[in-house]
Amino acid sequence: MANEKIEQLRASIEKIKLGGGPEKIEKQHKRGKYTARERIDMLLDEGSFVEIDAFVKHRCTNFGLDKKEIPGEGVVTGYGTIDGRLVYVFAQDFTVMGGSLGEMHAAKIGKIMDMALKTGAPVIGLNDSGGARIQEGVDALAGYGRIFYKNSIGSGVIPQISVIMGPCAGGAVYSPALTDFIFMVKNTSKMFITGPQVIKTVTGEDVSAEELGGAMTHNRVSGVAHFVDENEEETLNRVRRLLSFLPSNNLEEPPVIETGDDINRMDDKLNEIVPENPNKPYDMKEIITSISDNGEFLEVQPYFAQNIITGFIRLNGKSIGVIANQPRFLAGCLNIDAADKASRFIRTCDAYNIPILNLVDVPGFLPGTDQEYGGIIRHGAKMLYAYSEATVPKVTLITRKAYGGSYLAMCSKDMGADMVLAWPNAEIAVMGPEGAANIIFKREIKNSEDPITTRAEKIKEYRDTVANPYVAASRGFVDSIIEPKESRPRIINAFDMLASKRENRPAKKHGNMPL
Ligand code: HXC
Repeated sequence: MANEKIEQLRASIEKIKLGGGPEKIEKQHKRGKYTARERIDMLLDEGSFVEIDAFVKHRCTNFGLDKKEIPGEGVVTGYGTIDGRLVYVFAQDFTVMGGSLGEMHAAKIGKIMDMALKTGAPVIGLNDSGGARIQEGVDALAGYGRIFYKNSIGSGVIPQISVIMGPCAGGAVYSPALTDFIFMVKNTSKMFITGPQVIKTVTGEDVSAEELGGAMTHNRVSGVAHFVDENEEETLNRVRRLLSFLPSNNLEEPPVIETGDDINRMDDKLNEIVPENPNKPYDMKEIITSISDNGEFLEVQPYFAQNIITGFIRLNGKSIGVIANQPRFLAGCLNIDAADKASRFIRTCDAYNIPILNLVDVPGFLPGTDQEYGGIIRHGAKMLYAYSEATVPKVTLITRKAYGGSYLAMCSKDMGADMVLAWPNAEIAVMGPEGAANIIFKREIKNSEDPITTRAEKIKEYRDTVANPYVAASRGFVDSIIEPKESRPRIINAFDMLASKRENRPAKKHGNMPL
């Protein structure tokens, strides 16, 4: 072949690789942001990236766009590997027209989404964009529409991960919102439907972009995002770590990773962890890390609804999703946010064949008009629905309180738990002994010469008679009462026994989950 043709190809590739050029790249770096190609290199196994569609061009002629060079259409797309496993990736290039999304930019993203669905591999989107390319009008909007559609069709089939590494505004936030996990970077990433200027014009409210849609806003307040890190390197490392817990698609099991931790390891500390006083909190995360292989725990949504904990651990090397009440926040009560957080996580685990471990210490649903007016009935119902719908192995360990509706909402036997274990101090009852005694012994307490002593006696009587694990165990609602220190071996044993579990549901178009 003529050398000239090869030189021409090399020069075109070099030009495309320069994106918006040295000045724009420098500006990007000065903001603490890497370029699209640098990010892809950090994310994937070294040298594994294969770019496709580098030569794609837009076909818009409005506002002089036909004379404008837009290298790579403002997005780098292709595939590569993470820990040797195939993934597809797109990275919006902010140095090229602010990474704005036009018809062909969207087509590039759509192509790798289609390929990912056909080959059963995750899609990772690195978002850094000014949103719909304004010059392209409805063609840009149509591009977003196609991406949303593909996000929805691929949901529950291949893991989809969104990493927000710059602005993400307007309807553009809905593609990330349709994916399984959203990562944000402190200070540099922003997500909002309408920006600060529009808000000021319409409602008069003054709010900074960071306060409105920064990483902590979405990790702590709105619950839109799942992870936050200090910088881009840490963020991309966490994406790699998350993928190690997920299968490549819904027909695969998650990877099993040899951890070297002893499956029979016991922990004496657990026999002491729950305080004598039932109103005293303790840190449920200590129980999670005591049980998990090598104490590893990848927490999902660690800042949002901290009264419930969600995340991934390994047991005997296998990926397990954990949902646990946290007595240190709101005494571990369930509320609207906790129910949303848990239900979403249960469905994520079930979609990707990840067994679920429930650690229960729950005094009830949080009372109050805020909760009732906010629709705790329909939000709480999501947990009942999600647990009932989930066919993966489900193991429940009751460490202390399991009262009323919240006992059921945390995956009791009748809500589909395959194995329920309880520690000997567990209290399983319609409500806490204090509240129960006030109602059923109201007259005795009122007529007593010493109501305080009588009340204390009645509370003890209620606890001894009903609020313990033995009544539930005598009916088979609890399969085993175990010593706390043997929790790890007993839970691993239960999941091993359940490994071949198969459960069918009646055929239907889809259920009607309360939303
Ligand atoms: C076309 C865009 C663009 C856009 C940025 N640029 N956004 N071009 N369409 N949406 C271009 C700029 O003209 C500029 O080009 C370059 O990208 C860098 O932008 P700057 O403004 O210089 O950068 P910065 O100061 O960092 O500000 C970034 C920004 C701002 C905050 C993102 O550009 C901005 O507000 N853009 C518009 C955001 C927006 O409202 N988008 C539409 C959202 S609605 P030059 O040539 O000067 O380098 C939406 C609908 C989706 O997306 C609907 C889906 C259903």
